[in-house]
Amino acid sequence: MSRRHLLAIDQGTTSSRAIVFDSEGHIRGRAQREFQQYFPQEAWVEHDANDIIADVIEVCREAIDDAGLEADEIYACGITNQRETTVIWDRSTGEPIARAIVWQDRRTAERCRELADERTESWLQDKTGLLFDPYFSATKIAWLLDNVDGARKRAEAGELAFGNIDSWLLWHLTGGAVHATDATNASRTLLFNIREQAWDEELLTFFDIPRALLPEVRDTASDFGVIKKDLLGAEIPIAAMVGDQQAALVGQACFEPGMAKSTYGTGCFLMLNVGEEAVASRHRLLTTVAYRINGRTTYALEGSIFVAGAAIQWLRDALHMFEKAEQTQALASSVDHTGGVYLVPAFTGLGAPYWDPEARGAILGLTRDTGIEQIVRAALESTCYQTRDLIHAIGDDAEPPRELRVDGGMVANDLVCSCLADILQTPVDRPEVIETTALGAAYMAGLQVGLYDSLDAIAKLWRAERHFAVDKSASEVDALYEGWCEAVARVRG
Ligand code: G3P
Repeated sequence: MSRRHLLAIDQGTTSSRAIVFDSEGHIRGRAQREFQQYFPQEAWVEHDANDIIADVIEVCREAIDDAGLEADEIYACGITNQRETTVIWDRSTGEPIARAIVWQDRRTAERCRELADERTESWLQDKTGLLFDPYFSATKIAWLLDNVDGARKRAEAGELAFGNIDSWLLWHLTGGAVHATDATNASRTLLFNIREQAWDEELLTFFDIPRALLPEVRDTASDFGVIKKDLLGAEIPIAAMVGDQQAALVGQACFEPGMAKSTYGTGCFLMLNVGEEAVASRHRLLTTVAYRINGRTTYALEGSIFVAGAAIQWLRDALHMFEKAEQTQALASSVDHTGGVYLVPAFTGLGAPYWDPEARGAILGLTRDTGIEQIVRAALESTCYQTRDLIHAIGDDAEPPRELRVDGGMVANDLVCSCLADILQTPVDRPEVIETTALGAAYMAGLQVGLYDSLDAIAKLWRAERHFAVDKSASEVDALYEGWCEAVARVRG
């Protein structure tokens, strides 16, 4: 295989990154920038979409440079992105009409409650695989149309465009030439019929969203146009767009039904490949598009936890318990257990399988012996308990995975991985490249431009760096998990 290079843009919730991979999936260059988060009111989270595009262009330049390459040596680019985050912009100027409403933002919780009843819930789940929750794009779009002066009228007149961050980036990288998204991103809006693979008129009417706003939906690996020459110095084909969790599933080569990955970033997202039939969850997990290639859709069940790494950030930045996230392994390992302390990081409500926007965070079980070590350990363990919540829910909808492939910044921490294996009672594999999100976007782009001839060729490139076996007994772990369930019950709204 020749060493052709692929550029992955990974636009996440707290940082924008670009990584250059060679065709065997090795990292050759990278760059990253954190950007500002806006919290204008309690439970509101916003991003400046212009900051995002400026940072993305900058990190692409830096990553190509870091790889020692020129832009014309990049074979193709894949874009992966924080999903659901909603931008509306003016088609003539490319300017956003307001700050982007981030997926974590809960301002439309009340609206979701108004819309939800037994009939609409099952109708919505059947069409979209999703639930009434402010997490998804539809109610955020409606909020912008109703709260930004003149926006609804302009949207109806076709003057405005909606996109998640993928479409927003694509629009600007192609100089306004392409307004499109892919099926994975579309499947997170509440407006896309995942069985028919098309925007759904009934949903558009229900959420009161003008069709003129919407991007065209293409396959995940597809021709999305080219990055304009003046941005990076050469035209680079954009050959894939994929939501970040789906990208991680691809980067983890979970191409067979029954294979699962869990990504631990700001939040945690567990995804199980269920094959070519959309499996409906009876436990409030999401059915979502895993990828769509050559018009064929593969589906996944997904459990989303809103706060994983963000709990560590909070201990670091708000409580100043340590300076660097890497210190948490030593701190937490210095004690054998939390001494009955549980940290429930429900800062923005609870995601799957609870879906409780009113729940709030808590640290429970404090005694005079409790120190930073126990609290840090409780924060790390909370991620593992939340993953177990998801695995339990999945187990009722489909065959639970026999092993879990993990990735994301937090799994660099060995304690988290072994704790996960114990609490889940399932072995955990950490791959050589834990940047699986960016890697998945690069793989999809490589597939589109013929660098890989099949998903099998990509699967052969996956290698485990470390296997974490189950060490603790089921009864020991069950008792701890019971304590977690009690703690969650106490913070519910
Ligand atoms: O659904 C939200 C998700 O796509 C955000 O992921 O990695 O930016 O926390 P991340």
